[in-house]
Amino acid sequence: MITYLPTYNIFVTGGAGFIGSNFIFYMLDKHPEYRIVCIDKLTYAGNLSTLAAVMDNPNFRFCKVDICDRKAVYELFEEEHPDIVVNFAAESHVDRSIENPEVFLDTNIKGTAVMMDACRKYGIQRYHQVSTDEVYGDLPLDRPDLFFTEETPIHTSSPYSSSKAAADLLVLAYHRTYGLPVTISRCSNNYGPYHFPEKLIPLMIANALADKPLPVYGEGLNVRDWLYVEDHCKAIDLIIHKGRVGEVYNVGGHNEKTNIEIVKIICKELGKPESLITHVEDRKGHDMRYAIDPEKISSELGWYPETRFEDGIKKTIKWYLENRQWWETIISGEYQKYYEKMYGDREQINKK
Ligand code: NAD
Ligand code: TYD
Repeated sequence: MITYLPTYNIFVTGGAGFIGSNFIFYMLDKHPEYRIVCIDKLTYAGNLSTLAAVMDNPNFRFCKVDICDRKAVYELFEEEHPDIVVNFAAESHVDRSIENPEVFLDTNIKGTAVMMDACRKYGIQRYHQVSTDEVYGDLPLDRPDLFFTEETPIHTSSPYSSSKAAADLLVLAYHRTYGLPVTISRCSNNYGPYHFPEKLIPLMIANALADKPLPVYGEGLNVRDWLYVEDHCKAIDLIIHKGRVGEVYNVGGHNEKTNIEIVKIICKELGKPESLITHVEDRKGHDMRYAIDPEKISSELGWYPETRFEDGIKKTIKWYLENRQWWETIISGEYQKYYEKMYGDREQINKK
């Protein structure tokens, strides 16, 4: 008897960004029989060159569409009849949300609603919302015994995390009110290839390579729980296939590091002096510590992080060294203006 594997048509929004592109590569490799349609507005954070390797894959299609554009989204649903939607599309940078919250409300909240309305209208097997541990707010540094579980109350700090939390609540409301088959993943900080160079790890790699100052906010004692991006992709793949509808799954690998530790590791790996480290004015409302308890996804779905931080950071640095053109193109363009605006006036508080 021949058994046919199920084949799905999956919409991946925000697939020209960091995690979405890694997810597309992961899925086309792991499930070559699936069709993947990437929906991306190509904001400053989206980069079509990232997807060059899959553009000719007959099971892949790229569509330049804004998820807030209801008409365009509905037309695409009519044409493609997706089985699963994985919504990565978002404004994702906390510092930008502090400067200009409005676009975060549009894409992260209204865009999520448009995607779910399309799912209701045309039918869907699963709508998956890619969320963040930042919806839980932060934990105190002096309580290393505390972790975010799925039961931790939502308690946001930044316009970014508030917009993501609002979207999460909307997703759960669409499940309860309309019976939409949803799941949500709340992941900790990712790192790896194609990470936009405004975020901590790629920014420090790029600056260190150029012997530029490494701008650490405040004392650099804030803690993040770092996860290699492929491990996040694996978690989402498991959730969309085996996760229980209506459930939230936290994703994180118990890999907590202070920012200053991260920057020192990057200096060491690149053979650069720590004297490049420059302590600058702190981020407003800066969350102290994020730490995920991944017990639910581990015990229910058998997920575990495969890449140890020591290996992942080496792989990431190697990738940035071997793909200079990708990030040098980004930081030579519009991004220069952003960098000047964010860091040009930022008061240097001391230099170590
Ligand atoms: P990113 O900023 O690298 O990419 C976002 C992508 O979304 C870009 O390609 C951009 O062009 C696209 N986009 C933005 N607005 C859009 C719109 N209106 N319509 C269509 N496309 C649009 O972000 P990322 O770091 O890859 O994050 C992806 C998702 O994962 C986000 O939802 C984020 O909240 C979540 N997340 C990120 C992290 C992390 O560490 N980066 C951790 C947990 C969760
Ligand atoms: P970031 O990569 O922006 O992710 P998030 O704010 O979502 O956790 O920042 C990670 C940490 O690094 C955060 O505590 C802020 C800090 N940071 C710096 O110290 N300097 C920088 O230039 C940046 C971009 C971040």
